[in-house]
Amino acid sequence: MLKMLSSRSHNTGLAVLLYTASSANFRKLYDYLMLTTQQHNLLSTPTGALQVSRKPLWLDDRKGNPSNPKPLYPVLFSLVVPTYNEGSNIHAIVQRLSQLLDAALPNAYELIIVDDDSPDQTWEQAESLIAEYPNLRVMRRQHERGLSTAVIRGWQAAQGEILGVIDGDLQHPPEALMQLLAAMEQGADLAVASRHVDGGGVSSWSASRRFLSRGAQLLGLVLLPQVVSRVSDPMSGYFLVRRGAIAGEVLDPVGYKILIEVLGRGAIAEIAEVGYVFQEREAGESKVTWKQYFDYLQHLLRLRISSGRLGRLGRKLNFPVARFLKFGVVGLSGLAVDMTAFYLLFSVFSFGLTRSAIVAAELAIFNNFIWNDRWTFGDLSQQQPQKRLVIKRFLKFNIICTMGLILNVLLLNLFVNWLNVNPYVGKLMAIAVVTLWNFWINLKLSWRVTQVK
Ligand code: GDD
Ligand code: MN
Repeated sequence: MLKMLSSRSHNTGLAVLLYTASSANFRKLYDYLMLTTQQHNLLSTPTGALQVSRKPLWLDDRKGNPSNPKPLYPVLFSLVVPTYNEGSNIHAIVQRLSQLLDAALPNAYELIIVDDDSPDQTWEQAESLIAEYPNLRVMRRQHERGLSTAVIRGWQAAQGEILGVIDGDLQHPPEALMQLLAAMEQGADLAVASRHVDGGGVSSWSASRRFLSRGAQLLGLVLLPQVVSRVSDPMSGYFLVRRGAIAGEVLDPVGYKILIEVLGRGAIAEIAEVGYVFQEREAGESKVTWKQYFDYLQHLLRLRISSGRLGRLGRKLNFPVARFLKFGVVGLSGLAVDMTAFYLLFSVFSFGLTRSAIVAAELAIFNNFIWNDRWTFGDLSQQQPQKRLVIKRFLKFNIICTMGLILNVLLLNLFVNWLNVNPYVGKLMAIAVVTLWNFWINLKLSWRVTQVK
């Protein structure tokens, strides 16, 4: 038995060695060991809705959660610095901000670096600075990406009454913070550093970048005038806001424009503006791509819907209107896939009526799942990216939509044969009911986020 065990344990040992030898597994094992053995000083990343609490977390959490301990001193000001591949800037920005705030707000501020798991390990560099800078906190987001949501996750972990954001590449001069803080002290709900007021400007932007920036502002003035017109530089990524002005609101930005989100959903009465000159980047690269412009358009439309009649109705009914509209758009693309596949299978490949209908419907369900998982419910699926969870979502989606198909036939019969409704009107009514069924049940079951505290 022992001999057999020893030869068996010998083979098992060998198998483990071979398994870990492959570099990917070795990296995973190494990360896991590092994670368990080395006590990281990282802030835990909040999950769930992007909602800033009325009171700092530590006040809420009587049980004394180790990841947000009761601070040694009251924090007045929390400044979030979103970073992605800012390894070459991180030390300089932490040093300059700390120098400035140590003088202005000794022991009454915190710097919160929110890094989206940068490939250049910016988070690790930032973490190694914690020993030297006691007011520094670092968050490493591993399942979410994006400037605006990074800022809000930082604010969710913040302890201050005044919440701020500044870029991590020193293009926003830290010195302007003093005037912004002074404006907050005088009662402003929001103090914005602007390139378009006295003392403001950009150091050396190309004509095309100026055109794009102004063009974006113009688009905002057309689509969302009541929000975008409230400040001279709605594209600014450098501002301070009072916690109370955004607390409790469920924020839902896309991409870069966190200021527009704050203006669009916050209770902002008093606004102050301070001129600053946007500096040239000394190290690293801007992360702005064409995607940011699409994100911006989507963000404007989302705010437009939520601030419009539909949005107000949705809030009254607690019904996610913007998400439902996306679900509808995806449903339409599914209809196109269904019809095209049915035509090809039935008319071109003579695959038979029922079989063509079933395969076409399945292809449409598959199409809808992909787009819903990436777009409609993208913010939820991002939090659960593991393959097995994706497959689990797909299976649930498939079952619910198949039940929807059955419900469709039953409802059609009810409307036409029982209620004597015109067959085409009956069909449309059945589709409307089933779309609501598919949306609501999938939102509640397939894309439900299991909140892990
Ligand atoms: N966490 C996180 N996740 N941070 C990000 C991400 C992301 O996905 N993308 C960019 N950042 C960080 C960068 O590392 C940098 O610290 C900051 O956000 C701004 O990114 P840049 O890529 O440097 O933007 P920019 O300089 O072209 O534009 C900035 O200034 C404009 C003028 O004020 C942004 O703040 C724009 O929003 C702003 O309009
Ligand atoms: Mn920049």
